[in-house]
Amino acid sequence: MREVLLAANWKMNTTPNEAQALVTQILPELSDITDIEVLLCPPFISTLVVADLLKGTPIRLGAQNCYYEDKGAFTGEISPAMIAEACQYVILGHSERRTLFGESSHIVNLKIKAALKHNLKPILCIGESLDENENARTEEVLTTQLTQSLADISSTDVSNMVIAYEPIWAIGTGRAASGEQANATIGMIRQTLSGTFGVPTALTTRILYGGSANSSNITEFVSQLEIDGALVGGAALKADEFVNMIKHTIAVKANEV
Ligand code: PGA
Repeated sequence: MREVLLAANWKMNTTPNEAQALVTQILPELSDITDIEVLLCPPFISTLVVADLLKGTPIRLGAQNCYYEDKGAFTGEISPAMIAEACQYVILGHSERRTLFGESSHIVNLKIKAALKHNLKPILCIGESLDENENARTEEVLTTQLTQSLADISSTDVSNMVIAYEPIWAIGTGRAASGEQANATIGMIRQTLSGTFGVPTALTTRILYGGSANSSNITEFVSQLEIDGALVGGAALKADEFVNMIKHTIAVKANEV
């Protein structure tokens, strides 16, 4: 059984004070989360503030990016070793990093290897653009991103990672994929994993959907067989909205048992 994961990607939102306020609003509602994993990924500067607040709770902490060297003269960068002192997860290869900051899948691959070395669980993001989607290139684009980003990574390491399928046309647009659409594409991603890393790895690796997921559509996604949760941007910045997403997800999982 793959444990469902709801991961909040706050992106470049919230000052440390705002981050503290948001976590303080969310926490009391989540004292009894069972059966699913919840993860918060605030901006770097709020990592330690949020880590303090999450101490003794089941909620996990992650970063939104990292560099691939351990330390040294890399002004402005942050290393997996630094993140690993406070976090369990790191988001890598988000489409905003790829398109706005020129990150190639090769760079993402180096970052994944560095994160794994420090026992961080990478959340590898992959996704096609609208143009690629409309030109029936989704499978080709996702397969290439997957293959290049996961080059030379062992099956065991891949099964400890999370993959997030985030169609670029759905991110921040309010135009989410349908549950069926996302399920079919994630099924295809699992097939590709199984071809490269074997069936057991494909069956244990969690694959999330991301792109305009919110409290109104989360049930549709987490009810699908192939979808193991969501990576949530905008909706995770509103305490009520995110808490409702968690509650809806727990309800779906409780009904499946
Ligand atoms: P969104 O972002 O939920 O605001 O569409 C998701 C993401 O980019 O991870």
